[in-house]
Amino acid sequence: MTIDPHFAIGRIQRNLFGGFVEHLGRHIYTGVYEPGHATADAEGFRQDVIDLVRELGVATIRYPGGNFVSGFRWEDSVGPREQRPRRLDLAWHSTETNEVGLHEFSSWLDKVGSEMMLAVNLGTRGTLEALDLLEYANVPVQTALTDQRVANGREDPFGVKIWCLGNEMDGPWQLGHRSADDYGKIASQTAKAMRQVDPNVELVVCGSSSAHMPTFGEWERVVLHHAYEDVDYISCHAYYEPKDGDLDSFLASAVDMDWFIDTVVQTADHVGAVKGSDKKINISFDEWNVWYQSRFHEVDQISDIDEWPVAPRLLEDIYSVIDAVVFGNLMISLLKHADRVTSASLAQLVNVIGPIMTEPGGIAWRQTTFFPFAITSRLARGEALELKLDAPTYKTGRFGDVPLVDAVATRDAETGEASVFLVNRSQSESIEVSVDIAGLGEVSVRETHTLADDDIHAKNTLEDPERVAPKANDSARVAGGVLTVSLPPVSWTAIGLAPTE
Ligand code: AHR
Repeated sequence: MTIDPHFAIGRIQRNLFGGFVEHLGRHIYTGVYEPGHATADAEGFRQDVIDLVRELGVATIRYPGGNFVSGFRWEDSVGPREQRPRRLDLAWHSTETNEVGLHEFSSWLDKVGSEMMLAVNLGTRGTLEALDLLEYANVPVQTALTDQRVANGREDPFGVKIWCLGNEMDGPWQLGHRSADDYGKIASQTAKAMRQVDPNVELVVCGSSSAHMPTFGEWERVVLHHAYEDVDYISCHAYYEPKDGDLDSFLASAVDMDWFIDTVVQTADHVGAVKGSDKKINISFDEWNVWYQSRFHEVDQISDIDEWPVAPRLLEDIYSVIDAVVFGNLMISLLKHADRVTSASLAQLVNVIGPIMTEPGGIAWRQTTFFPFAITSRLARGEALELKLDAPTYKTGRFGDVPLVDAVATRDAETGEASVFLVNRSQSESIEVSVDIAGLGEVSVRETHTLADDDIHAKNTLEDPERVAPKANDSARVAGGVLTVSLPPVSWTAIGLAPTE
């Protein structure tokens, strides 16, 4: 492998390390918010969770959904709590109490040090309601709506910068699901109108909810045909899980993510070319993760008319070592596309396919996936660098021949610090990697972290919350402008390099 600062892919935007909080299952209630919990602060937010989210290092947080947003009336979630209505949440067959809403969530974001990314409902609502929310949230002058905001305790506008124009509108499961043509038109109209209120907003139009949707590709083309000049980003969503026990293919999930990103970029650039536009549309990869969706459909899904629970246990996947290795590889894929993926949101944060789990009245703990996110978010600074990588390949059922090693490097020109992130996808072999780092100047290894285990299915659980954690990789050495490191089977590794003093 060769790392050279001349092989710059692009500047890494902090928003690449975003998260996602949806009103879904126990994400809000008994996840981030649990009045009466031993660590709850004066507003009822769990301090143990706040501390873990801070440690994770999350830039933006997308809110309040997800599928939830397509049935959401934002007005329900503001004003005196005791007057807020309980509503059916059709997306997750639950009852939403609206105990936590826009103001409370904004206050929580201040505590965790993240910025709000807000989604408007373009499923069952339209442009007017989106404008009302934008006015309520961002406008400084006095109007009927901003008076309400002030009366509800918020003098200064929330100043929300990034807005999602609905959620997964290509999905037949989505309330208000539309054709690409219909959605593209309403997205364009809404975007134009929103910019009339606040010209500084950044807008995300919905791309495909997976690269394997039957409309994938054509959806992006048609939606952008309508909205190209009105938006800044198109979204991508992708979730991975092993299919039919095929772990080799699962370990290569990032190949699919690479392909997904490349294809959407090409499609967006095609539309730009047809329009003769100089503008580039970037990608907001605002839902990505490992998610055992099959378990959700088999076990979790609720459908009885008399069953609308408040904060049920939904999508509470407990992640293993192999899941975290795939997850770390997905982060490598995002970094490899840092020139065009300028915003991303890990879906989700707490309890719901989250890196953080909580027990009501009990502990909060780090899932295996917590570690690659926290370490990458901390170490990946400056520019992402393309690696010249020569690796053996292995055969996969879903993606053909795939390199056994995947990697990316980053370098901060201001400090001279660099980092390398690597995965070994082999289930049986350690791999010795040798990296030509002469182009980085005199550097030495400052820190190493390898996530691996003899049991690739080991997990952190309520009973054993610290079973899995990354360990230092003592094999990493720098000598004569070459970094060498040994990667155990099914492992994710991060190496921090610093200029030698
Ligand atoms: O993250 C869980 C769900 O996955 C979201 O609500 C939806 O947007 C996607 O299908």
